[in-house]
Amino acid sequence: MEVKQKPPAGELVTLWVNDRKVEAQRGESVASALLAAGYTSFRKSPEKGEPRSPLCLMGVCFECLVEIDGVPGVRSCQTTVCEGMKVKLSR
Ligand code: FES
Repeated sequence: MEVKQKPPAGELVTLWVNDRKVEAQRGESVASALLAAGYTSFRKSPEKGEPRSPLCLMGVCFECLVEIDGVPGVRSCQTTVCEGMKVKLSR
């Protein structure tokens, strides 16, 4: 089992979420950064248009899908933040 080393505390990267600047800790997931920034709804359900947000945070439920750098349907809980990343929520 690979053990990932934690980045130094306080090392920040900048994301753009629906054109809003959001700072995140280097090494954290996009879902974690979005939740920390106050986003509670990441998308709407295709059937009823209900707001959806992360549930499992381990890549199983697919409730955290967002668009990242133009690629739709990315699991934000399984994606690490990067400097300048553009995240689009369809809330
Ligand atoms: S929160 Fe469940 S797959 Fe991302």
